[in-house]
Amino acid sequence: MSDVLTRAATAAIRYRTGVPPQLRPPAAPRHFVGRGDELAAVRAGGVTVVSGPGGVGKTALALKWLQDRGSGDQLYVDLAVREPLGDLLRAFGLSDVEVDESVALFRSLTARRQFTLLLDNADSAEQVTPLLPASGTVLVTSRSKLNLPQAQEIHLEPLADDGRLEELLDLSYVELPERQARLYRLCAWQPDTFGVPVAAAIAGEPECDVEDALDDLVEKSLLTEVGDAFRFHELVRAHARTKR
Ligand SMILES: Nc1ncnc2c1ncn2[C@@H]1O[C@H](COP(=O)(O)OP(=O)(O)OP(=O)(O)O)[C@@H](O)[C@H]1O
Ligand SMILES: [Mg+2]
Repeated sequence: MSDVLTRAATAAIRYRTGVPPQLRPPAAPRHFVGRGDELAAVRAGGVTVVSGPGGVGKTALALKWLQDRGSGDQLYVDLAVREPLGDLLRAFGLSDVEVDESVALFRSLTARRQFTLLLDNADSAEQVTPLLPASGTVLVTSRSKLNLPQAQEIHLEPLADDGRLEELLDLSYVELPERQARLYRLCAWQPDTFGVPVAAAIAGEPECDVEDALDDLVEKSLLTEVGDAFRFHELVRAHARTKR
C-alpha cells in the first residue's frame, strides 16, 4: 500500500473518534430569520454554491442549514485562511504532507465517509475543485458565481426588510453580559482585525477574561475569528458603533 493510503487510513481511524475541534462549524445566528426557500433548495448529497454580495447572509444560511440537518459529520473550512488544505490535513493529524500528495490524501480520507463539508469564503472555482470530496454534501459560499460543473447555485438577495438585520443584532446585543457588550462596543472602533492583546489593552482587562468574552461573541455570530485574530463583519461593526 502506498504511503499516501497508509497515512489516509491512519487519519481515518482517528477521524472515527470525531471531527477535530478546529473543523467543527461555528453556531448559526441565534435569531435566524427567513430564507425558507433557499434552505429548502440546498441539496443533500451534492455540491451547492451559495453566492451573493458581502454581508447578505451566505455564511449564516449555510450554518443554519447544517444546524437544521443535525450533527452528523460536519466539517467547516474557512478558505480565507492561508493554507486551507494543509490545515484540514493537519487537523486530522497529517503533517509534513507534500503539496502534490495533499489532494490525493484528502480525497482518500474523505472517500471513506459521507459527510457535510462547508467551504466558506471561496474566491474561485480553482480554489474549490481540489477540495471537493468524492462523495457527501458540500456547501460553498462565495461572493462570486463560481460556475462549478454539476453544482447548483443559490444566489442570495438582501433580506426583503432592510431594518430586519439591525433588529436581529439588537436582540443579540441586549442579551450580552456586560463584559461582552462592552468589548462589542469598544472593539468595533478597530478598523480591521485585532488580537486578544489589543482588545485587552482597549478594555483595560486581563487577556484571559477578554479571550473568553471574544470567543463568546464569535459563538453568538457577532464576531468572526480569523486565525488567531478577530474581526467584525462590516454590517455588525456599523451596528456596534451605534451602541453607547
Ligand atoms: N437570515 C439571517 N438571520 C439572522 N441573521 C442573519 C441572517 N443573515 C445574515 N445574518 C447576520 O448578518 C451578518 C452578515 O451575514 P453573513 O456573515 O452570513 O454574510 P456573508 O454573506 O457570509 O458575508 P461575507 O461575504 O462577508 O462572508 C452576520 O452577523 C449574520 O449572523
Ligand atoms: Mg461569509
